Amino acid sequence: MKAFTALAALALASSLAFAQSAATFDPAAKVFRIDGGHVSYVFGVNPRGELQQLYWGGRLGATDSFPEAKPMPDWASFDSSYTNTPQEYVGWGAGLFSEPALKVTFADGNRDLVLHYVSHSKTDDGFDVVMKDIRREVYVTLHYRIEPVSGILARSATIENREKQPITLEQVAAAAWALPPAHYTLNYLTGRWAGEWTLTQEPLHPGERVIESRRGTTGHQANPWFAIQEGAPDENHGEVWFGALAWSGSWRITVEQDQLDEVRVTGGFNPFDFGYVLHPGEKLETPIFYGGYSAHGMGGASRLLHHFEVDHILPHRAGPNVPPKPRPVIYNSWEATEMNVNEAGQMALAEKAAALGVDRFVMDDGWFGQRKTDHAGLGDWYVNPEKFPHGLKPLIDKVHSLGMDFGLWVEPEMVNPDSDLYRKHPDWVLNFPGRPRSEMRTQLVLNLARPDVKEYVLGFLDKLLTENDIAFLKWDYNRNWSEPGWDQLPPNEQKKVYVAFIQNLYSILDELHRRHPKVELESCSGGGGRVDLGILKYADEVWPSDNTDPFDRLTQQDGFTYAYTPQVMMAWVTDSPHWMNLRATSLEYRMLSSMQGSLGIGANITKWTPEDMATAKRLIADYHQVQPTIVQGDLYRLISPRNGSEFSATQTVNKDRSQSVVFLFIHSTQEGRLFPRLKLQGLDPKTEYTLTPIEGKAAEQTPATASGAWWMHHGLDMDASFRGDFKAAAFRLDKK
Ligand code: GLA
Repeated sequence: MKAFTALAALALASSLAFAQSAATFDPAAKVFRIDGGHVSYVFGVNPRGELQQLYWGGRLGATDSFPEAKPMPDWASFDSSYTNTPQEYVGWGAGLFSEPALKVTFADGNRDLVLHYVSHSKTDDGFDVVMKDIRREVYVTLHYRIEPVSGILARSATIENREKQPITLEQVAAAAWALPPAHYTLNYLTGRWAGEWTLTQEPLHPGERVIESRRGTTGHQANPWFAIQEGAPDENHGEVWFGALAWSGSWRITVEQDQLDEVRVTGGFNPFDFGYVLHPGEKLETPIFYGGYSAHGMGGASRLLHHFEVDHILPHRAGPNVPPKPRPVIYNSWEATEMNVNEAGQMALAEKAAALGVDRFVMDDGWFGQRKTDHAGLGDWYVNPEKFPHGLKPLIDKVHSLGMDFGLWVEPEMVNPDSDLYRKHPDWVLNFPGRPRSEMRTQLVLNLARPDVKEYVLGFLDKLLTENDIAFLKWDYNRNWSEPGWDQLPPNEQKKVYVAFIQNLYSILDELHRRHPKVELESCSGGGGRVDLGILKYADEVWPSDNTDPFDRLTQQDGFTYAYTPQVMMAWVTDSPHWMNLRATSLEYRMLSSMQGSLGIGANITKWTPEDMATAKRLIADYHQVQPTIVQGDLYRLISPRNGSEFSATQTVNKDRSQSVVFLFIHSTQEGRLFPRLKLQGLDPKTEYTLTPIEGKAAEQTPATASGAWWMHHGLDMDASFRGDFKAAAFRLDKK
């Protein structure tokens, strides 16, 4: 678990009144209280010895105290006090009907588990609380760490078997969160390949809503993030409780409104097909389930999460307390050349990319093994001698001579049956012996849980990075699991693969980071199939979607930013008409759509006209100037592009409120309607700001300079020429 160092806290604390954390235990009432940022989290030991949730929300007064936790009463003979009482980490036993945090089968067939408080230890920013089954030697340590600026709480659990026999863990959550009865809106993100990041907002009803992946990986179809808002959805106002699970394997978050209308959110390993055998003396650590609270609507919640991710999740390659820099502007070859890469072609693209002001040139799929189509080559990580007769060095040298650094695509966890690796090691893939091996994209999944596979993957990556001057890897993962067998282990232990695979993935990434600390990573999985707070501890950026249609991207990016910071949101400008929707858009529109995140170019720029080159070059230069504000500032979603909205707009403001950037988009003007007056947010009302167009024109009467109060209360009017289909404009505001 990542500790929030006192030094980091101090540095960040300076600008915020509430930037302090405290962890206190009241021994008389047996109540734990954790404060950080604007948040308090409270739980206690009730008279039965259970850990009972008491409060999660806005920060309470320093002298406020809680009496001893009082269990909820029975509800007739059908719902016992045990099931009604919201517990921090409840075992399945004693008549529990809601989601358990932990469900166990003992060697003698007993499946009853009731966890009671044993002891605790305090740290500067939280507690470790030990619980134990009432009879058996099963221990659970709950970890709580609060981050002092955001008030985001990191929770996880360690399960330990001190019995003399193995036990099988069938359901293991990282944490459970509880909220009292109220009318709530549940927010979550769903999608599919090329259609990720759909924000669903629905009233919470009695029963359970399951958000999950059973795929062995995070998945495009749902993302391990939730937000619950009291009342109707509101971007700017109201209380929001949110959470995100740091795990890149099969996961599950359940949101229950129980029989007494209490809300419980439980998340961790997906219990589907789960069964982890814990031998005597062994422990299992769960992933971390982060949780936070904002009193400022969905916008406030996502701003807290964005800053937390940049400050505490993403790799800090320049030192523990140095936040990551904005991403280099990249060029990526995929949409231009697909797998038809070769030295001359990539060099031609690199020359054009450098002329645009791009910082990093990335060669995508196709450079290795016998890779001509997606039918062959995965697993054989030698440079293809026909395409690159002199290895990668001439291309890398050329890219460096053009003033860019070099990045490369890899897909380390996969193999094509048509590969030397598979011919040599057919037993290395996930499979059940004697059963068919389902191919997807003509590839199979290497079983990374196997020590030999882990060694192979680490070995080839280390060699690649040692022998070549590579600054960046785009790490892809282009299918989900099938037939997840691991026949090296006894049959009853094979399901361990769900945990061991991901642990080994993280351990490879850790080791690569140790050996090649400067090499940066992108997490890609056919677009946004592996985006979560687990992988983001190793990945500097992610590929949100293979769909680069600039209009589709507006809603995808809108959804993405509810959970993840624009710092990691790579966005390429590609060719028009776009392959996905066959829609034609202007280069300006495409550029501005991508400039809301971390900008990249992915078009076939050898075909661009001199005018295209000039437009892109100008906008990349503008982008470079304001990029820190866009990707690390406070994001305000002024007008949502969702639900076919005619207009949309976003705004970002930097930390000291000296700069702001605004993006405006028109879907299709109807009946001559002008873009609505846009009231900005987050500025300092007393500071004078100068408005400078990046693209487009404000209305003639717009002042060149006005106070923050003016821009926020009066707002920005657009020129009447800002009409039509797929139009975009952008402005910067700078402190005078
Ligand atoms: C995936 C990625 C693409 C590209 C291809 C290469 O689909 O998402 O960006 O790298 O693989 O095969």
